[in-house]
Parts: sequence; structure tokens; C-alpha cells
Amino acid sequence: MTILGIETSCDETGAAIIEGEKESVKLLSNIVASSLAMHAQTGGIIPERAAREQVKFMLPVLKEALQKADKTLDDLDGIAVTYGPGLIGSLLVGVETAKTLAYVTKKPLIPVNHMVGHIYANWINTSEKQNFSPRTSHFLPPTFPAVVLVVSGGHTDLLLMKKHGEFQLLGGTRDDAAGEAYDKIGRLLGLPYPAGPRIEQLAKEGNPKRFRFPRPLLHEDTFEFSFSGLKTAVLREVQKMKTIDEATCRDIARATQDAICEVLVKKTLRAAKDHGVNTIMISGGVAASQTLRENFSLLTSHLSLQFFAPAKNLCTDNAAMIASAAYFNFKPVPWPEVTADPELYF
Ligand code: KG4
Ligand code: ZN
Repeated sequence: MTILGIETSCDETGAAIIEGEKESVKLLSNIVASSLAMHAQTGGIIPERAAREQVKFMLPVLKEALQKADKTLDDLDGIAVTYGPGLIGSLLVGVETAKTLAYVTKKPLIPVNHMVGHIYANWINTSEKQNFSPRTSHFLPPTFPAVVLVVSGGHTDLLLMKKHGEFQLLGGTRDDAAGEAYDKIGRLLGLPYPAGPRIEQLAKEGNPKRFRFPRPLLHEDTFEFSFSGLKTAVLREVQKMKTIDEATCRDIARATQDAICEVLVKKTLRAAKDHGVNTIMISGGVAASQTLRENFSLLTSHLSLQFFAPAKNLCTDNAAMIASAAYFNFKPVPWPEVTADPELYF
């Protein structure tokens, strides 16, 4: 089954072609045009500017995805598109493009929740090793039931997934998402947006003992998260200093990363234990963090749990994950009924 995916929920414009084969998905093309360089200058995304860039990128990205996969619109079995959550102007670019294509080609249109898309990046078979335990050289799709951590710029959610398309929300964030915490703390340190990858790089040479930031809700009997206190703790440290030298920047980066990773890993492991689940899956932009992946890999192998994470380039926003979600949950909706929903949740 050949599916075109379209993703424009935030600052990226993505189009991808995948081929579904039983319990995994083969990537034929995955094109992502980013307006990040523009947002790095402004320290964050300006929605109107993001959408305008997406209007420019959408058709060339679509054409490139088809060309690279050596497919035409006629070859498609379905068109999948992110319909929420996200920025309304951005979502509309993808949704209206997909609806037009569905109308013209009469192909099935499958609206996909962006967060569900992130989770389904775990089923895409790439050459990068994704199955951390058991350590196999070939691709293994995740098994059910699984505890899933979706950790991105907009969300930090823990879910129980018993089968394809069935999610039980165990807890979300009460305030800032983990990626948002990375980005806001990065801004305090004068780092460009998005700050997650840069904080990870700086943390490598940071002193783990100089600062210790709070681990919010770590020991409380809840699967909810809260990261805004962490940002405030960093702000207090920064306000005490006249200037932030490079060593301080590295040490704060290290303490930030240690706090975020510890909360994410421990809460996810506890959710797996409480629900008697042997499979853990992570997804979303923050799942690209090598440190987070290694921490999960180490602890899950000690506990004989299976751990899955998508290839790093499929953790951040892309259209292949949207097409993958549509393949496993092939529920077409007539095109006039598909509308963008910026507030969509699980
Ligand atoms: O999933 P995503 O691309 O967009 C949303 O749907 O939000 O996630 C973007 C987030 C940003 O907050 C970014 O700082 C974070 O993922 N991120 C990372 C890393 N790479 C991206 N955070 C920590 N470490 C990384 N290596
Ligand atoms: Zn995302």
C-alpha cells in the first residue's frame, strides 16, 4: 500500500511517500523543508511567517517527494495529512493541499493527529538501529501493550497503547512541555531556537555537580509532568550573574538536561511497571536526544524491557510518520469533512 503523507503543523513543510508492508513501513522518500533558520533569528516561531513560507514550499516539496519515490499521484492508495494539533495557518496549508489532491484524484484522504504520527515513526524501517533491546541487526516493529512517551516542543505525554490506534492517556504536562523547557532555557542562555540539540552538545562538557535543578513531580503519585519550575530555577541562577561565561553555559546545560532526562526516564519506567507492560517507546523531537536514548536503553535493558525509538531524523517533524500512522489506521474521511483542528489532543 503506497501512501503520500503531508505535514505542516508547525514550522516544517513535509511530504513523504511510504510503502506499508505488514507490520512495518518502507520509506520511499521523505522531504522536509524547514524555515528554522528564519525562526532562529527571532528566537521562536512567528506563526504568520511560518505559514507564508509553507505556502511557498508546499508544492515543490510535494513534487520532490513524488519524484524521489519514482511515483505519480495515480500510484497512491491514500493521502494522509496532519489536521492538528498545531498552528492554524500552518495546518491549513497542508490540509487544503491534501483536500484538493483528494478531490482531484478521488483517492482516500486520511486525517492524522500529529502526536499519533510521532508515535508511528517507530514503525518506519530505516537503516539506523532503532530496536535497542533485544539488540538485533534487523528491524523489529514494536509490540503491544506498550507505554509510549511523546516528548516534543508542544507535548509531554505518557500513554498506554494496547493496539494500533488505541491510546489511553496516563498523564500530560501541567505547563511547559519538555522541548519547550529546553527552548526557553536556551533563550535564557542566549542560544538559538530550537535549543534542545545545542543544549545536548554543550552538556557533554558540562560539570554535573555545579548546579542541581528541581525534578518536578518526580516522586509524586501522578504521571503528569511540569517543567515551568525548572525554567524559573535556571532564571534565578542567571539573574545572579552579570554575564554567563562559556563554562557556566555548559554547566547549566548539563544540569538542565540531567533534570529533564531523569524525570522523563523514571516516570516512563514507573508507568510501565504499574501497568505491567514490557515495551517502552519514545517519540517526538526530544526523542532525538542521544542522552535520553542512551539513558532509556541502559535502564530498560537492566530491567529486561524492550525499548524502541525512531531513527533520529524521524523524531522531529516529518511527513513519513504521518503516512505511517495512516497505513496502520486506514480510516478515510470524505474530503469536505476534513478540517484543521489546532487544539486536537488524544
Ligand atoms: O517534534 P518536534 O520537531 O516539534 C513539535 O511537534 O514540537 O520537536 C521539537 C522540539 C524542540 O523543542 C527541540 O528543542 C527539541 O524537540 N529537540 C531536542 C533535541 N532535538 C530536538 N531536545 C533535546 N535534545 C535534542 N537533541
Ligand atoms: Zn511534532
